[in-house]
Amino acid sequence: MCGIVGYIGAREAFPVILKGLERLEYRGYDSAGIALYNKGIIELCKTKGKVADLRAKADKEGVVNGSIGIGHTRWATHGEPNDQNAHPHYSNSGDLAIIHNGIIENYASIKEALINRGYEFHSDTDTEVLVNLIEDVKTNENVKLGKAVQIALNQVVGAYAIAVFDRTKPDEIVVAKLGSPLAIGVGEDEFFIASDASPFIEYTNNAIYLEDEQMAIVKRGRDVRVRQVRSDKPVNPYVQELKMNLEQIEKGGYDHFMLKEIYEQPEAIKDTYRGRLRINDGIVKMAGVEDNLGKFLNAKRIIIVACGTSWHAGLVAEYIFEELMRIPVEVEYASEFRYRNPVITQDDVVIAISQSGETADTLAAIKLSKEKGAFVFGVCNVVGSSISRETHAGAYTHAGPEIGVASTKAFTTQITVLTLIALKLAKSTGKITHSEFHNYLAELETIPVKVQETLKTDAHVATIADIYKDATNCLYLGRGYNFPVALEGALKLKEISYIHAEGYPAAEMKHGPIALIDEQMPVVVIATKKGHYEKVVSNVQEIKSRKGKIIAVVTQGDKDVSKLADHVIEVPETHELLTPLLTTIPLQLLSYHIAVMRGCNVDQPRNLAKSVTVE
Ligand code: AGP
Ligand code: GLU
Repeated sequence: MCGIVGYIGAREAFPVILKGLERLEYRGYDSAGIALYNKGIIELCKTKGKVADLRAKADKEGVVNGSIGIGHTRWATHGEPNDQNAHPHYSNSGDLAIIHNGIIENYASIKEALINRGYEFHSDTDTEVLVNLIEDVKTNENVKLGKAVQIALNQVVGAYAIAVFDRTKPDEIVVAKLGSPLAIGVGEDEFFIASDASPFIEYTNNAIYLEDEQMAIVKRGRDVRVRQVRSDKPVNPYVQELKMNLEQIEKGGYDHFMLKEIYEQPEAIKDTYRGRLRINDGIVKMAGVEDNLGKFLNAKRIIIVACGTSWHAGLVAEYIFEELMRIPVEVEYASEFRYRNPVITQDDVVIAISQSGETADTLAAIKLSKEKGAFVFGVCNVVGSSISRETHAGAYTHAGPEIGVASTKAFTTQITVLTLIALKLAKSTGKITHSEFHNYLAELETIPVKVQETLKTDAHVATIADIYKDATNCLYLGRGYNFPVALEGALKLKEISYIHAEGYPAAEMKHGPIALIDEQMPVVVIATKKGHYEKVVSNVQEIKSRKGKIIAVVTQGDKDVSKLADHVIEVPETHELLTPLLTTIPLQLLSYHIAVMRGCNVDQPRNLAKSVTVE
């Protein structure tokens, strides 16, 4: 994963590319670089660090003007993050410059063959191997850049989104895609290349999304010629009109994207159910489910595949589907599922959950499930993403762009979509009565207001954060629907504040983790009314007896847990099945404030990237 940007047209490419890279930094940020063409030379500037470091370096060295260029923000797979390994990479002659997102798996054998033919390498990357392979083909076969790229790509195994240009033929950029995303923005006499549309949305709403194994020759002032990588077959490019706007991808007055996205949740949840939740008609409208109702209703089992936060949303959905539909559900880490020869049959429905729609492991799990004959349904946020295209059908979460690496609104909107699906199916099979169905819908409709109400705990949560910001460990406990919320709370804290945290089912605590509890240990307990409330009260009692510090998320007006807890955060009352949509909010805020107070980079935590497009 990494972000790629390219520009060819009449503007100065440097500011366009730099701004584009800043928007793509969520994809990787351990080094960055840019190559610009001007009057016969390629000017290269690259550095370890973030796009801001690249900007500073370019300012210091003086940037050459140019109206063609490519830029990259990296998340290293091959070779440590340093100046040499930063992209773009040159070919040995210095004529070709490349940027690459992905992994060339057979790079070692290609590199060896190229070294035997006299090529030299200046980085540890697989990418530098690819650009030299292209050059080797171009010289030996005496073909144009486009053809050379095509022949070279037929020799590589792995994943790529690349952009290459040739100093000796500077009126075109050649791009290609397999596994990693690549969009081409189509303006008036100008073209933009990027990993997603955010770098060019202020210039054009028209975009071509390349499919896997497609390449394109983007000609200055002319056109985009798309063809297959495996054959010479030309492809008629489909130019999509994008609905996204610039405001959606900017911080809008918040200090961090994460905070903005936490606060967007009432609107995002509303956007998720808008047009679908139709109380007056007594229905849930979802075309992807309706068109495939037979598949869902005949399924003997539902398998959910996902990673990270999306996997946690899958766990919540397991409880919801089993409760409402009485159908067995398995929730799998996509990365484990794909490699363990899982039993999948034509009677299974596989639901893949992914915010980005680009997660490599989830994508691979989908492909495997399809091969075995299962029907695969996607729940994605990013419209037009690889997963949304690879699945048989699906439902978008419509949460708007999520830029902060820590997933927040994606989680609550995924749960919203999955709840709608479960309700729709349960109603169709008569597993719930009309009045139960109506009550659930009515309650779901109130959730945005209740999330808004929960967000008012922000200042109080910040004072709690201040007390525990120096903790080195933290436990999160929950039961039933709120056990996955405990896992999610712990993940949020780990990934942005670097405090070690574990989520546990509250009752499991006495089978091991209770040994960790002493007066230093903060324990976040989700103890909302209903469900297993009395049991959780006992668990809280057990922690108290061992002097643990208790931060309890409780239902407004709670008495029992509040008496025992050191700190209490209240959320409005709702149906038990919908509590995760509320209880998760203070946990997001807690990790956010702790991370800010510890001086961590909230939106770009170390070692992470937003879309994990490598295995
Ligand atoms: C969440 O905060 C994470 N950064 C991460 O676990 C994420 O949810 C995971 O990588 C899956 O991403 P996806 O939803 O885009 O597939
Ligand atoms: N494999 C390339 C590298 O390590 C690209 C990595 C990426 O896609 O982030 O530089």
